[in-house]
Amino acid sequence: MKRLLPMPSKHLFARLFLICVFLVAPVLPFGPREVSHEAMVVAASREPVRAAHGMVASTSKIASTVGVSVLKRGGNAVDAAVAVALALAVTYPAAGNLGGGGFMMIRLRDGRATAIDYREMAPAASHRNVYLDRDGNLVKGEGSSTIGYRASGVPGTVAGLELALKKYGSGKFNWAQLVEPARRLAAEGFQLPYNLTRSLRAQRENMERYPESKKVYLNNGKFFNEGDVWRQPELAATFARLQRFGPREFYEGQTARLIAEDMKRNNGLLTLEDLKNYVAKERVPLRSTYRGYEVVSMPPPSSGGAVLIEMLNILEGFDLLHMGVASSERYHLMTEAMRRAFADRAEYMGDADFVKVPVAGMIDKAYAERQRRGIKMERASTSAEVRAGRPTGYESEETTHFTIVDAAGNAVANTYTLNDSYGSKVVMRGTGVLMNDEMDDFAAKPGTPNAYGLIQGERNAVAPRKRPLSAMTPTFVMRKDGTLWFAVGSPGGPTIINTVLQVITNIVDFDMNIQQAIDAPRIHHQWLPDEIVYEPYGMSADTSRALTARGHQLTEKPRYMGDAQGIMIEEKTGVRLGASDPRNFGEPVGY
Ligand code: DON
Repeated sequence: MKRLLPMPSKHLFARLFLICVFLVAPVLPFGPREVSHEAMVVAASREPVRAAHGMVASTSKIASTVGVSVLKRGGNAVDAAVAVALALAVTYPAAGNLGGGGFMMIRLRDGRATAIDYREMAPAASHRNVYLDRDGNLVKGEGSSTIGYRASGVPGTVAGLELALKKYGSGKFNWAQLVEPARRLAAEGFQLPYNLTRSLRAQRENMERYPESKKVYLNNGKFFNEGDVWRQPELAATFARLQRFGPREFYEGQTARLIAEDMKRNNGLLTLEDLKNYVAKERVPLRSTYRGYEVVSMPPPSSGGAVLIEMLNILEGFDLLHMGVASSERYHLMTEAMRRAFADRAEYMGDADFVKVPVAGMIDKAYAERQRRGIKMERASTSAEVRAGRPTGYESEETTHFTIVDAAGNAVANTYTLNDSYGSKVVMRGTGVLMNDEMDDFAAKPGTPNAYGLIQGERNAVAPRKRPLSAMTPTFVMRKDGTLWFAVGSPGGPTIINTVLQVITNIVDFDMNIQQAIDAPRIHHQWLPDEIVYEPYGMSADTSRALTARGHQLTEKPRYMGDAQGIMIEEKTGVRLGASDPRNFGEPVGY
């Protein structure tokens, strides 16, 4: 056929087409962006929030803003962390707390890193079988490790924040100044966002039986509505006492007496003596590398760092990049790493102040090499052959993480919790303080699963003054020149460790930015039950068929996991890139 148009015109069309593309590109969602090919394959993400100086990523925009205001006034990341943690106790009461505990990882700009352990301690009156009835069965309901007055460990949050501030604060802010934003939020109130009214209403059944909790959180049964201004006057008064008398007030002053009296009236375990004896501890972080990048994470009494590093060490021996980010091959290998590390967690881990925990062995690269030899590419292992145990399901969960980087480059990664959503559900009379149910993180009956379906061993049995094993995993990853690359952490019970794992491999292996790495769909396996949990819409049908064909079990109930909050430092500019998890309502704020 004869050409109707001469060749040059075809080029002209091509040119016109290209010009059009460039003209409209800025308004197209797939317009030119500096993202790697692999990341583009995963999913669209909004850009991380950018700031030249400091950044706070938390699950509450109000709390993030409180932190940034401390940074702007010359405070460092630790000063800001104290204010953010206290503010979250007001604005995110499901997990932010005075009545719970957690872990704060601090990395100073000169590279020194430390870990503040303010995990709850078991009351002196507790003992190995404290949650068992006469027949040796787990007590259910009131009296159990999950709800009511007997479920609480001695809270560590106030002592932990005090220790962090004393040793690593800038000195520009005193304790009372950092308590003030939280006191004001509690006294003057704030407008209730939708997610909080929803989560409070969901507590109806749990809280109605505790008059003080019903008053504070259920508006005496009338419930709160989106947009209401919510005040917590008793909590505000507790903050005012903490300002006036200092942090020890919580452990020795009127607040302590009110807590102890309420506990006594209601057959709780916790006493004034327990409060007086609480100690926060500074610990040496665990350090390792993943493909040459330094990883610094939380040591016992959290299992987070050790399990994370064991999994990273196993995965380091595989070329994940070429398998593809959402491939069945990568999911298979991650599952096999999770299965092995969680089996070790169950067998070996507990409070290292009380029992021997072979952390060095767990995070040894040669051990990972041996573990890898048991993994077959074409076939899933079974958890029964990796080690024996008894499966059960999962339950709801709440904890919260925030990450802060200041203008000087100091960083904080803090995860703290009441354990379950709204902890033990009990507010201590006259204090506004909601207590934790962290005692359930012990193996209340070793070998029997806890609220997260986790099997745990003798090493994590209850004992007076012992700290329950945790999964919280606040973590830093450094660039090869030793500067901070990113910091991240998440809630989610046992899924915490796997969330952090996947954020790290998404960034290191697949070159995602912090927001993409947090957004990408996740999977979870915890040895027992022997199943892969995945997220709604998070796995293609043929990927799940490929996993099933290898012998993996997939959960029948996909569910979202985690609420990661991370900050990455942009390499060339030093800009702080903040990212909050799209699975919840948080927002990073920077300046
Ligand atoms: O310390 C732990 O591992 C648990 N108490 C954490 C609970 C949790 O993350 C619930 N959150 N979503």
